[in-house]
Amino acid sequence: MIQVDHLSKYFGTIPAVQDISFRVEKGEIVGFLGPNGAGKTTTIRMLNGFFPPTSGSARIDGLDVFDRSLEIRKRLGYLPENVPLYKEMRTDGYLGFVADVKGVPRKELPKEVDRVTERCGLHEVRKQFVGKLSKGFQQRVGIAQAILNDPDILILDEPTIGLDPKQIIEIRELMKSFAGYKTVILSSHILPEVSMICQRVVIMNEGRIVAEDTPEGLAGKDSRKIFLQVKGPRADVLARIETLPGIAGASVRDTSADHTFQYDLEMEPGRDVRDAIAESIVGGGWSLLEMKTIRPSLEDIFVRLVTEEE
Ligand SMILES: Nc1ncnc2c1ncn2[C@@H]1O[C@H](COP(=O)(O)OP(=O)(O)OP(=O)(O)O)[C@@H](O)[C@H]1O
Ligand SMILES: [Mg+2]
Repeated sequence: MIQVDHLSKYFGTIPAVQDISFRVEKGEIVGFLGPNGAGKTTTIRMLNGFFPPTSGSARIDGLDVFDRSLEIRKRLGYLPENVPLYKEMRTDGYLGFVADVKGVPRKELPKEVDRVTERCGLHEVRKQFVGKLSKGFQQRVGIAQAILNDPDILILDEPTIGLDPKQIIEIRELMKSFAGYKTVILSSHILPEVSMICQRVVIMNEGRIVAEDTPEGLAGKDSRKIFLQVKGPRADVLARIETLPGIAGASVRDTSADHTFQYDLEMEPGRDVRDAIAESIVGGGWSLLEMKTIRPSLEDIFVRLVTEEE
């Protein structure tokens, strides 16, 4: 279990991470999402004991990640943002070397290297020099070294970056297969990826956590748009619904037929004024043909969360 309390990191005066707190339970897969510079990598590096926090703490199974980093690193698989590969080694030699460092018993080494080679689709490049591999294959080697020795905890910074579509699917499947028995934190820019793989999403912006929920919870929390189809004079209808309390905005779509117009409404946050909308339309003597709440996509929510903060 990972527990982060009021963690902050300043680089000089730059606040890269500011007072973040969260928990990740055993067996949970949590996604870190945020724009460039949000503080994802800085958080991940602190969790790996790479550098100490400016203030606050991070613990894994009760052990402080910085003070006890040697113990923790044995149980943790880490894929850094820029994978530090030994470029003059061949793929299998490199994986064997890392497996050895991670404490895989000598006689199990070949089997363990075979296992991760298979998992990460590295067979065809196992005799090639790591430094000469394409970016995607280097990324696969990075993932392979992270899962060597089958650690309980995996911390992966942008695991699918640079991979081809087929390998993206395979690596996502691999990560999904960890659900329930490995604790995984991964960072990503790709929203559908996070909602596909993760049980929980932590959205970061400018060093802070701006939202934390399940992908479904995030999408359901914020149903602020309404689509309407009304038979009636558009100027009158619009004037009436626009002025209802709790409506933040209203517009008419171009498409119309037979005095029927379509409207897009925006409700103020935290308000549900669907009753009032229906009453005012019927009260005006018009016909309400359709009303539906439009659930925002995860993209909409993300953009809203990271722009409203500013
Ligand atoms: N070693 C460092 N020295 C100084 N500033 C740093 C250092 N590392 C990160 N920063 C700054 O901290 C902030 C957060 O950076 P970080 O790399 O954690 O963001 P990120 O969310 O991982 O972004 P990206 O999506 O681009 O990977 C940025 O403003 C960055 O410039
Ligand atoms: Mg990063």
